[in-house]
Formats: sequence, structure tokens, C-alpha cells
Amino acid sequence: MPETLPEIQRRLTFAIISHPDAGKTTTTEKLLLFGGAIHIAGAVKSNKNSRAAVSDFMEMEKERGISISSSVMGFDYGGRKINILDTPGHADFSEDTYRGLSAVDSALILIDAVKGVEERTRKLCEVCRMRSTPIMTFMNKLDREGKDPIELLDEVEKELALQVRPVTWPIGQGQSFKGVYNLLENQLYLFRAGQVELPTDIVAISGVEDPRLEQEVGEYLARKLREDMALVTSIYPPFDLQEYMEGLVTPVFFGSALNNFGVRELLDNLVRFAPYPQAKKADERTVEPAEAKFTGFIFKIHANLDPKHRDRVAFLRICSGKFERNKQYLHVRSGKTIRAANPTAFMAQNRDIIDEAWPGDIIGLHDTGTFKIGDTMTEGEELHFQGIPSFAPQIFRTILNADPMKSKQFHKGLDQLAEEGVVQVFTKPHNQNVRVLGVVGQLQLEVLQYRLVHEYGAACRYEPIEFTLCNWITSSDARALEAFLDRYSHKILIDVRGTHIFMAENPWLLQRFKTDNPAVKFYPTSEMVESRA
Ligand code: G4P
Repeated sequence: MPETLPEIQRRLTFAIISHPDAGKTTTTEKLLLFGGAIHIAGAVKSNKNSRAAVSDFMEMEKERGISISSSVMGFDYGGRKINILDTPGHADFSEDTYRGLSAVDSALILIDAVKGVEERTRKLCEVCRMRSTPIMTFMNKLDREGKDPIELLDEVEKELALQVRPVTWPIGQGQSFKGVYNLLENQLYLFRAGQVELPTDIVAISGVEDPRLEQEVGEYLARKLREDMALVTSIYPPFDLQEYMEGLVTPVFFGSALNNFGVRELLDNLVRFAPYPQAKKADERTVEPAEAKFTGFIFKIHANLDPKHRDRVAFLRICSGKFERNKQYLHVRSGKTIRAANPTAFMAQNRDIIDEAWPGDIIGLHDTGTFKIGDTMTEGEELHFQGIPSFAPQIFRTILNADPMKSKQFHKGLDQLAEEGVVQVFTKPHNQNVRVLGVVGQLQLEVLQYRLVHEYGAACRYEPIEFTLCNWITSSDARALEAFLDRYSHKILIDVRGTHIFMAENPWLLQRFKTDNPAVKFYPTSEMVESRA
């Protein structure tokens, strides 16, 4: 254990959450640039694809498959080993993002100061809140005329249900943007538009009353800052690290990633405050990172989209102990032992084979079909980690094999692609042969069809079903649950874990079923079922 602790305390594994176009690619790149992990801008590929055709999407995924390292970017900075988890930019692929959040210890929310809080941010933030994940917030694009900062903070409090604690405060905005005032340090960080060289000009002042403020930002903005500060300090209590760690408050920073402004401060504060690897809940017990024995779980599987190579990369998050190359580990679901001969680390621009890895690290394991999302690996203990949720799909289709001669290929393809998380597959209680697919976005259906054809030589077609909403259901009253399942069997599906799902036509009906059946508990994600099990 003694050798584990310092390694754990060095780790910082986080994901960036944002709505497409808020500046995630730009910010990630600037974090890597300031972190010294890359030396030129343009090295990070955007994975956004706002409304492309499925073939474009596959092309893009192929490119990403080759430079898979962009899914996790690791680098050393400020004495810590930082792992940034990239999350897919396409709105239709948000399930992958949700799952990625199970592998991080904190999150950074990026908000476009012109647009304010947007839909995807809201959804992803909900997942963080459900797990009490600590969140930092970066208000981006301050170089543009945007919303009033107080209005932005109000939006975060209302729409994300997070209390805010401004750590920096903008001086002017858009054309008149002069920089930020750091409330914790009493320092001015001055903005020079378009400045691409480092570092930012920093001026230490003794507080907002310091007459140097006028010299630096002019009379009007100095007065405005004093007024703002009087208001801000009366509304918001000072930043409290413990409250942040518990996911109750979010420290807020302002800047402009495109102009390199505020990103270094953000990185410095991440290094200073963001949590190191935290304990993880398993069905059996809570696993502490400092435990001597290795444990970890698979949260993502990335196919090599070259049809000639069916191999995949499984992403493993290490939860405790030390992972060693070539050591035998138990793959809990199958009961078999597995030896990883070529585990890879994801550094900023390359994938290197590693000999060991520590809690908080994410490594890639070569997979020929062994792994499923959610699988646990240990040194022998039967553990099942929680928190790899399946989210309530919003689109349902019955899937049918369109080519009877290719039945084997169809089933194999569907099973493997479901394991990869491309779609969720459900069965009906009394007819195991009918497969119902659930997805959060239409694009997932198109990708499944495309990949069945191109990788498995199988064809499928979809038939609509009338439901649009589903909830996972359980009950502590077995008889009540049985009666409910019997009565509404035409509205029930079963997920891969054997948990029942109730489907409804609309929110109003769902609510009515909830009210009429108080003994049955309804949950919008499978994770909520687990955490109450
Ligand atoms: P995403 O990954 O979250 O989708 O966003 P991305 O970084 O690609 O940024 C989206 C757009 O916003 C890009 O412009 C980018 O240049 C711009 N942007 C990012 N940060 C800032 C900022 O601080 N200020 C301003 N004014 N713009 C910012 P684009 O025109 O869509 O792309 P590009 O042609 O510039 O690459």
C-alpha cells in the first residue's frame, strides 16, 4: 500500500462536459498546450459533427479509431498526472458520454457565455449530480458580447441545480473585455486580444479598492468591477473546497479558450482543487483506491472500424491497487483469468505500451470479444462495480433480420454491437426471440444498420413501436411487482441484466402508472436501480 498512495494522490481524471460548439475542442487543446503535452495548436481533432450523414459519421469514427488516443488524453502538469476524458461531440451519441462519466472523479462544465446553459449540458450535469461528482465551470467566449455574468450564474443555479461560487470575475465583455479579477488571490489577469504567447499579464492588487485598478482597466470598468464585487460577495458565500468535493457547489471561472485566456488559471485550479481518485461502489462493498489489490472496470469499447480487423480496444478504469502488464487477472463475468500482454496508456498524442498503471488511470486492453461494458477485473475477488448506467432510450424499434440466409451473422453482429454500447437491446418477457432496440438518438440506428452490413455482412430492418418513454422498475414487494408485470406484460421489456423496464406512450401516462402503483419504483436510469438495490 505505501507505494500506491503517492501515485493515487497524483492522479486527476476528469471529463469535459459541454453542448456542441461551446468550445470543448478548443479548450481541451489549450489545456494540453498549457500543460506542455502538445506544442502546436491544431493537434486535437474535433469530434463534433453537428448533423452529418451516417457515412460521414462512420468516416469520422474511422479517423478517430486510428488516432484513438484522442479518447483519453494524459499528461503531467503541476506535479499531477492528468487524464482528460474526451466525450463524443455528437448529440445522438450521448450514451457513450454518460458512461464515460462513470470513469472520472470530477468534471469540467464548459458554457458558451453568449448562449448560456444549453440542453446537453443540463442532461450531463444531471448525471454528475446523481453521483455527487465535483464540478468546475468555465464560462467561455468572454471575448464576445454575451449574457451578463450574473445572469449566467443565475442560469447555472436554476437550470443545473448547482450553487455557484465565482472564483474569477470578468472585467468588461466582448470588445471591452479587459480580463478577470481573481477573488481568491486579489489579482488581475489582463487580457490582450488575440495574444497567443504565454503567459497572461498578471497584476497583484490589494483588492478592488486599489487605485491601480483604474490604471489597468480604466475608470468606468474599475467602478463597475467594484459594484459587481459588492454584489457578488453579498450574494455568494466564498468558495469552500469541501462543498465542491461533495458536489454541492461549483467554482466558476471566466475566459476565452480561443484567445488562450483563463485556461492556464483553470488548469492551475484543477491541479490545486480537483479530487484524486475516489472510492468506487460495487454491489458487494465499497472499494478504496489505496487497497493493495488491483480492481477496475470496462466503461467503453471502441471498435477498430476496419472491417478486416474485428479487434477492439476496451477502456479500463483502474479503481484500486496496481495494474501490471502480463499478470493474470480475473474477468469476473466469465470467471476466466486474463493476461494483458500489451496494455496501452493514452498519452496526448500516442499510445504507449505500459508496464503498470494506478488508480485513476485509464488503459486500453486489446479485445477480441471478451469484454462487455460494465465488466469488472480483479485479482480474484467477485466484485461488480456500479455506476455504468443505461439511460432511458427515447426511440424504440423492433429489429428484424432482413436476410434469412445471414441469420448467424445478424445475431453475432447485433450481440457484439450491443456489447459495444452502440444500442441497447431488450427482450420481451414471453418471447425471447423478439429483440427491441432502444436508443437515445436516431443516428445510433443508422450506425447499427451500416455496421451490420459492412462488418458482418448482415442486413436488418426496423419496425416502429408505439412507446416513447421507459423506466426501469423494481419493488421491495415481490408480489406487487409480479402482479404489475403480469397485468402490463405488453408494456414490459427486459434488459441485459434481467431487470424489468416499463414502457409508456407519453409522460402523462407514465406519471399515472407511477401514481396508481405506489409499491413499484420507477427509475429513469439503470444506475438508480443499482444504487438502491
Ligand atoms: P466544441 O468542441 O465544443 O464543439 O467546440 P469547438 O472548440 O470546436 O469551438 C466551436 C467554435 O467556437 C469554433 O468556431 C471555435 O473557434 C469557437 N470558439 C472556441 N472558443 C472560443 C472563444 O473563446 N471565443 C470565441 N469567439 N470563439 C471561440 P468555428 O467557427 O465553429 O470553428 P473554427 O473555424 O474556428 O475552427
